[in-house]
Amino acid sequence: MTHTTTIAAKRGGLALAKKAAAAGAVALAVASLQPVSAAHAADARVIGGKPAAQNEFPFMVHLSMGCGGALYKKDIVLTAAHCMDGSGNNTRITVTAGVADLNSAGAIKVKSTKVKVAPGYDGVGKDWALIKLAKPIDRPTLKIATTTKYNRGTFTIAGWGDVREGAGTGTTKLQKADVPFVSDRACKWHYGNRLVPKQELCAGYASGGIDTCQGDSGGPMFRKDDAGKWIQVGIVSWGDGCARSGVPGVYTEVSTFAKDIAKAASTL
Ligand code: ARG
Repeated sequence: MTHTTTIAAKRGGLALAKKAAAAGAVALAVASLQPVSAAHAADARVIGGKPAAQNEFPFMVHLSMGCGGALYKKDIVLTAAHCMDGSGNNTRITVTAGVADLNSAGAIKVKSTKVKVAPGYDGVGKDWALIKLAKPIDRPTLKIATTTKYNRGTFTIAGWGDVREGAGTGTTKLQKADVPFVSDRACKWHYGNRLVPKQELCAGYASGGIDTCQGDSGGPMFRKDDAGKWIQVGIVSWGDGCARSGVPGVYTEVSTFAKDIAKAASTL
């Protein structure tokens, strides 16, 4: 089993794991033996990122099963479906907010009450879910893109996930990096029909070196809107390994689901 497959399964994304396994496990197993590109290996963080400052991304939250998320409302977190065990009452998730360093004083910890996974989620596409919190968190929320207008340019990614492919530990200090948009057409050069172009958005450098990785799932990919405010365009979803050359990261295309997300939130 490959690392990608293992982690997805551990985090409840069994269907996603099956998809990854079916889709070229051989190629993955071979590729996973290769190190992250040497040019970036020395300063590897998110993969190839830097520590974020306290309060730089105040909407970022850490989830106790080892995923990321963003405050969609003060009492609702937007994350990835593959991080969740399904919809319904759920008081098992601890959401940590308000800190870049998970071990620093001032961490706000709130329990979940309910989870709503994307309707029809089966491990392929639709990788979003909402978590209702036991009480609101008094931190800024992150607005989501409602049109495809911002599916271009340079995006910021952030998370407490692995700083090296295969590490399996994550990091206590929030890491950040910038990655460029990759067109569906270019993204398919590597992923072929495993990409669901209407529901997924790719980002990364052709040379690799900078990417999200295991443990970053569910966290936001965001950029500035025309008014200079942060707007979420993606949710960390999956990829073959991390930061490999020619292999972009795959993100849930938030604008595609903006209406569904708003509707689901209103029922939580
Ligand atoms: N599925 C991973 C997780 O559960 C996220 C993988 C992102 N991979 C990538 N190459 N961008 O944390």
